[in-house]
Amino acid sequence: MNFFKQKNNLRFLDSIPASSRETERWDKEWIAYFNTEDPRPFLKDYQRLTQNKQVIENIKQFSEEEILNTCICEELPALRIWIPGKDLAGKRVLEIGCGPGFLGKQIGLIAKKYVGIDYSNLALSIAKLVSPANCDYLHISDRKKIVDYVDSIDTMVGRFFFIHQNFSNSIWVLKLVHLLLKPGGVISADFYKATPDIQQGVVFPAKHALSQNYPSCAFEYTESEIKELATHSGLKIVNMHRHTEMQRLFVCFEK
Ligand SMILES: C[S@@+](CC[C@H](N)C(=O)[O-])C[C@H]1O[C@@H](n2cnc3c(N)ncnc32)[C@H](O)[C@@H]1O
Repeated sequence: MNFFKQKNNLRFLDSIPASSRETERWDKEWIAYFNTEDPRPFLKDYQRLTQNKQVIENIKQFSEEEILNTCICEELPALRIWIPGKDLAGKRVLEIGCGPGFLGKQIGLIAKKYVGIDYSNLALSIAKLVSPANCDYLHISDRKKIVDYVDSIDTMVGRFFFIHQNFSNSIWVLKLVHLLLKPGGVISADFYKATPDIQQGVVFPAKHALSQNYPSCAFEYTESEIKELATHSGLKIVNMHRHTEMQRLFVCFEK
């Protein structure tokens, strides 16, 4: 990478909001989650899970729908991501908002490399302890390590991630992913889309400010706001898929 390009990249990485306040906000959210939900799927080491060998052998042929409902390890719930198997198997996969490595410890079993980035140091510490050796976990402020992955990633996937990002966050997240993807690399983004007859939690329009009280609130995007995101981050929209039961608008972008 040439010197000027690298300097610009570091300047952009420096502009990403990565305060200790934001880290604490998400650390506390994970503590609240572990106090109210079953933490075992997150705390189980990959070596103590039963791998579904048939799934692992055939996953390259799986469609988006099949991947969504696939369990790579028998004790864990389904992956719940919208991406064909060919974009995961043998690929270099990035997850932003990786949490304690629920996806990483499974994608590590089928991908060449998995990189997880998050705000929460608590979640990252767990992720490192439960994942295979081809997984790397970085804090969002670790620009020196992040810059090592520039132009190296085939696929970025969001799992329960873009649903929590407001418009301005999604812009810098997508610019960051653009920087890390190879040309032709793809993004599977999981935006929130309410289904009217399902009872709603805390949902804001996409351009609303982040909420201190509700880190896990949802932000809802219109299709024209998704197009704005693509324009601002230099990405192409390949397709969109509405999933009413999960209340998602899955969007595939390409660099
Ligand atoms: C609902 S959790 C999902 C975790 C994981 N993807 C999973 O499916 O288990 C959202 C995660 O994203 C992280 N996060 C939220 N906004 C972020 C951002 N803009 N950049 C990096 N991480 C973020 C939070 O710390 C949290 O770990």
